[in-house]
Amino acid sequence: MIGGSDSVSENINENSVLRFDPAVFVVGSGYQIIFLTSAMGIGWVEIGGDRFTDEECGLLMYDTVHKIPVPGAALNSAREYTVVFVEYADKKPYYPVGVEKVRKTYSFKPLEEGADRFRIFQFADTHAQTDLPLETYDRCTGGGPGGCDLLLLNGDINEWSDKISHFDTSFKLAAGAVRGERPVIYSRGNHDTRGHCAHLLAGYIPTACREGRRETFYSFRQGSLWGLVLDCGEDKYDHNIEYGGTISFNTFRDRETAYLESLIADAEHEYSAPGVKYRIAFCHLPITERFDHPFDVASDIYDRWTELLGQMGINLLVSGHMHRAYHIAPRFAPDGDGIYKGKGLADFPTAVLSCPKVELEDGSYVYLGGIVEAEGGKVTSRAAM
Ligand SMILES: [Fe+2]
Repeated sequence: MIGGSDSVSENINENSVLRFDPAVFVVGSGYQIIFLTSAMGIGWVEIGGDRFTDEECGLLMYDTVHKIPVPGAALNSAREYTVVFVEYADKKPYYPVGVEKVRKTYSFKPLEEGADRFRIFQFADTHAQTDLPLETYDRCTGGGPGGCDLLLLNGDINEWSDKISHFDTSFKLAAGAVRGERPVIYSRGNHDTRGHCAHLLAGYIPTACREGRRETFYSFRQGSLWGLVLDCGEDKYDHNIEYGGTISFNTFRDRETAYLESLIADAEHEYSAPGVKYRIAFCHLPITERFDHPFDVASDIYDRWTELLGQMGINLLVSGHMHRAYHIAPRFAPDGDGIYKGKGLADFPTAVLSCPKVELEDGSYVYLGGIVEAEGGKVTSRAAM
């Protein structure tokens, strides 16, 4: 079990230029492997003798963050990858000299094609904590890469995005749990959109590129699972004084609606593709929930998304944000005591599974996360603490 102070997880790769084990994020049919280094330089990934880089416009990125797109077929068949980092202490205009500082190979286990059983562990609303959430992961799963088949980072991982260092939290959690050996799902939360560096977060998280923009909503495929990552942006209106005119999520959500409609138009290559057995959506905000003003932003949009997700045959929506654990039943569930239906519009259930701190009887605290399991065509979920 990981315990004690935050220094434990901060030093996962103590004295290494590679600050944390990489996070292998799922996007579309492939991956985006992201790793951080303590020095400036150039990073890439090698799989089966091929080299995959972050080249754009012919240039290899020179930075401390390295975001490498990798084809799914290559990594799924090789089942291992090597991260390489070459430090350039001075990338001068002529004759820069690089020194290789990192070359480390990781084994990797994707969801098996045709596998009928898998487990997802959710971290959401960790709000910059790493020790308590990793203790819960270890306690509830047995720990390590074998603790889950997919790791889910479902928003508000940080308190805000005020410094670049705040982006470390996702990598500490991913490295502390699955050590670069299992796929990771990332969905942005509303707190992640706040602060001086929020506009830089897209360089540190998986994104899909459409019409010249990086987007934080996309589908992905892992074995028999078709996954859908949604992003609500902020939880209040764009004109709320809290944001001071710095956001434009109305236009963002409209693009997301169009994207969801495009998925339905292309169903045979998405959720109805051969081999898809499970369809799970991931969204920080439970869009099937009722919210009062000023949190009632985009209610009509979320009703439309709920309708579209129903058309897709979504088995389960997995959410956080509420700092509680509960389930919202679908509208076709029988009436009865204790059946909560949220807005009452959804054709699918919603699992809300996260709380930053739960106080126990002895006065100590634990983090509450979530476990989603698929088996025999059914998807179940429960709180984990
Ligand atoms: Fe939130």
